[in-house]
Amino acid sequence: MANILIAISGSISAFKIADLVSELGKAGHQTQCLLTRSACEFVSPLVLETLSGRPALSALFGPSVSGTEHITLARWADVFVVAPASADFLAKLALGLADDLPSTVALATSAPMLVAPAMNTLMWEKPVVQGHLETLLGRGARIVEPASGVLACGEVGVGKLAPVAEIMAAIAAALTPPAQPLAGKTILITAGPTTTPIDAVRYITNGSTGRMGAAMAEAALARGASVRHVLGIDKGVVRPVAPRGAEIRLVIEEVRTAEDMAATALRHLPHCDGVIASAAVMDYRVESPAPGKLKRAEAAVSLAMAPSVDVLASLRQAATGQWFLGFAAETDDVEAHGRGKLARKGLDFLFANPVARLGESSATGFAVPTNGGVLLFADGRSLPLPIMDKSALAGAILDAIS
Ligand SMILES: Cc1cc2nc3c(=O)[nH]c(=O)nc-3n(C[C@H](O)[C@H](O)[C@H](O)COP(=O)(O)O)c2cc1C
Repeated sequence: MANILIAISGSISAFKIADLVSELGKAGHQTQCLLTRSACEFVSPLVLETLSGRPALSALFGPSVSGTEHITLARWADVFVVAPASADFLAKLALGLADDLPSTVALATSAPMLVAPAMNTLMWEKPVVQGHLETLLGRGARIVEPASGVLACGEVGVGKLAPVAEIMAAIAAALTPPAQPLAGKTILITAGPTTTPIDAVRYITNGSTGRMGAAMAEAALARGASVRHVLGIDKGVVRPVAPRGAEIRLVIEEVRTAEDMAATALRHLPHCDGVIASAAVMDYRVESPAPGKLKRAEAAVSLAMAPSVDVLASLRQAATGQWFLGFAAETDDVEAHGRGKLARKGLDFLFANPVARLGESSATGFAVPTNGGVLLFADGRSLPLPIMDKSALAGAILDAIS
C-alpha cells in the first residue's frame, strides 16, 4: 500500500505510536519510525522496530548510517507523519531547523505532512506554539488537532494526542490523490521578470523572482493541468518543479525580453485553455542597445527608452476563448488599481497584492515566500486571501477560479 514515515518526538504520549504502527501494519502499509533523542526516553525503539518490521532510526551520523540516508528516507515516504509533535519539534519544523534525523528528513521530504501535536494545555495555548502551527498550516501541512481530557500531568484541558483512529483517518485522507479538476486542460503561464539590454553585458530588469508563477504552475500541475511556462530569466529565478509523475505535463520556455516573451507565449496560446499572466514585464525597453560593451566616461549618459510590447494585451488580442488571470502588484489603493487593470485589460480574474514602497519591507509581493491580497472577478465579486505561503495561495486562487 503506502510508505509512511512517522517522526516521533519527546512527548509522554509517544508510547501510543506503538498502537498506530500496529494499526498501519494491519491496513497493509509499510511504516518507518524516526525518533528524536527525547522520544527514545518515552518509547522503546525495540517496540516500534518489532511492530513495523524496520529498524527504528534516530541517528543522523554514525557507523551504521549510510551518508545520505536522510534523503533516501525523505524520498521513500508517501506521507510524513509527526506524531506526537512536541512543542519543541513544532518550532523546529516551523523554522526549518534540521539538527537531528527526524527534523532533517522533514526538511528534505516533499511528501504531504501531517502533524499531531501533544502537550500540556498551557504549552498548547502559548502564542508562540500557535504561531508555529499557523506557519505550518500556511505551508500546506495538515494538523490533527489534540483532544481534550485529563493530561499526563493531572491537569484537564486540550493537549492529548488525537486518538489513533483519528490519525489513521487523517493518513488515509492525505493518501487519497487530490481531485484533478484541471485534468485535460492546458494552461499558459508567464512568470518571472523580463529584461532589456543596455549593451552587450548590462541590462535593466525588476525584482520579480518568478516564485508566484512557479507556485501557480505547480498548483495547476497538481490539479491535473498541463502547463506551458514562459519564464523570464534572471539570476536566482525560480523554476517550477513538477510533482512526481507530472513531469511530462510541464514545458518550460526561457526568455529574456518582453518581445521574446510575447512571441513565445503567442506561439503556445492556441494550444491553451487559459492564461495566467504572472510575469513582471518591463514597460519600457532601451531603444538602441549598444552591440558592444560601453566604455566608462566622465560625462553623464542618458538612455532613450521606448514602450515595450504589452505581453498581456497581445495575448488578449490573439485569444480564441481562453480565460485570463492577471496579477497586479501595487503600492497604493491595491483593490481600486486592480479593478482598473482587470477592466482595462479585459481579464476574467485578477489577483491584486500590495508590494512594499521603496525602502520598506513587506510579506507580500516580490522576492518573499509569502503573498496575500484580493482576488477580483470580472462579474464584480472579490475574495480576500490572507497572507500565506505562495504555494498555498496558488492553490487557493486556482480553486476559486476553477
Ligand atoms: C515526563 C515528560 C513529559 C513531557 N511531555 C511533553 C509533551 O507531551 N509535549 C511536549 O511538547 N513536551 C513534553 N516534554 C518536554 C519535551 O520532552 C522536551 O521539550 C524535549 O526537549 C523535546 O525534544 P524533541 O522535540 O527533540 O523530541 C516532556 C518532558 C518530560 C520530562
